[in-house]
Amino acid sequence: MTSASPHPVITVSNLKPGMFVVGIISQRGEMEIAQSGLVSNERQIAALVARGVLRVRVDLSRSQLSQDKAPEATDKPGAPIPSMRAMQEPRVQGEGRELKIRRLYQEARELQGKFIRHLKAGEPIDITPLAAVAEEMVDTMFSHGDAMLCLARIRAKDAYLMEHSMNVAILLANFGRYLGLERNVLKELTLGGLLHDVGKIMTPDAVLNKPGKLTDEEFAIMREHVVHSHDILKATTGITPTMLEVAANHHERLDGSGYPRSLQGEQLSLYTRMSAIVDVYDAVTADRVYKQGMQPTQAFRILLKGAVTHFDEGLVTRFIKCMGVYPVGTLVLLSNQRLALVMQRNELTPLKPLVKVIYHAAQRHYLEVQLLDLAKPGVSETIESTVDPKDYGITLANFV
Ligand SMILES: [Fe+2]
Repeated sequence: MTSASPHPVITVSNLKPGMFVVGIISQRGEMEIAQSGLVSNERQIAALVARGVLRVRVDLSRSQLSQDKAPEATDKPGAPIPSMRAMQEPRVQGEGRELKIRRLYQEARELQGKFIRHLKAGEPIDITPLAAVAEEMVDTMFSHGDAMLCLARIRAKDAYLMEHSMNVAILLANFGRYLGLERNVLKELTLGGLLHDVGKIMTPDAVLNKPGKLTDEEFAIMREHVVHSHDILKATTGITPTMLEVAANHHERLDGSGYPRSLQGEQLSLYTRMSAIVDVYDAVTADRVYKQGMQPTQAFRILLKGAVTHFDEGLVTRFIKCMGVYPVGTLVLLSNQRLALVMQRNELTPLKPLVKVIYHAAQRHYLEVQLLDLAKPGVSETIESTVDPKDYGITLANFV
C-alpha cells in the first residue's frame, strides 16, 4: 500500500485541518484518547499533540483536502476503525476503559505465550505474572463483563490454543460470577482456564491441527494432552487443586464416557462440570482454519443435547442464561434490515441488548456505526435472528 490508500497512518505533525481521523494509533503517557472525526482547526491538532498523540489513521475519502495536502503514510494501513463520533464531541463513557480491557486481553495472551515458550524450551516457569493477570481479568469481569466477553467472541483463527485458553478463562470467570462463586475461586478458575490445555504443547502438530477426523490412534494421542496438562501443572509452584482440576478433568463426562479417567456422576465436581460446558462451548463456536465455528445458539443446542449424559443439565441451563439469548459478540438482524453486533446484555429484558448497528443487510453496504439500545423507550427495532457474519463477508473484529 502507498500513501494513496484511503486509510494511511500519519504522524500527528502531518495532520491538517480537513482531515478525517478514524483512530489514534499511538500515543504517549497514561491518558487514553479514543476520538475520531473531522479535524476542523489547528487548535484540535494542538490539543492532540498536548495529550501525547503521536500517530493517527486518517480516512482520505472522508477528508476535505486538496490533493497537495495528502499525507505521507508512516505505517501500513489496516482495516478502517469505524466511528461516527465527531472530533468535538466528548468521548462516550467507557471507551477508554475498553482500550484498557483490550490491553489486558493482549497482556494475558502475551504472558500465556511466554509461559508456553518457556515450557517448550524446558526453562523454569513462573505463574506469578499469569496469576496477577487472571486476578485482573476477574476484577474486569465484575466491572466490564460484556466488554471482556466481546473480546472472547471475536477471535483470531490462528493461535487456537492461546485463543481457546483465553476464552475458556473468560467464560469460566463469567459463569462462576453468575453462579455467585467467591472471587478467590473465580481467580483460580480463570488461571485454571488459561492453563487448562497447556499439555497440548506435547501433542504433535500433525494431530493437533489435523483438518479431518482423527484416527483411533491419533485420538489416543490427542487425549493424552489432559494427562500432560496435569503433570506439567502438578510440578508447577503455585498451582492450586482447583486449577489442577480444570486442567485434568475438563474432558470428563457425567456418564463416564469422558477421559482420561472416565469419572462418573458425583465424581465430577462443580468446577469440573463447569469446565466441561465452557470448553465445549468455546471449541464448537471457534473458527478454525479447516472449519467454520457455530453460532452461539447452535452451540447451546449441542450442550442441551448432551445434557444429562455428558453435562450437568441444571448447569447447562444456567450457562445459557448467563450468556444470554443473544450472547455478546453475536451479529443479529434487526427488523429494519440492519445488521448489528450485540455489545451489552440486558439482564431484565434479554431480548433487547445494546447493539452496534454496522451494516444494511438488504442493500449490502456498511453503515456509519451507531450504538442502539433496543430497550430504550421509543426504539421500535427488534431482533429477528442471529446471523453468520461470514454470510455478509463481515469481519467483526473491525467493529469491536
Ligand atoms: Fe482440552
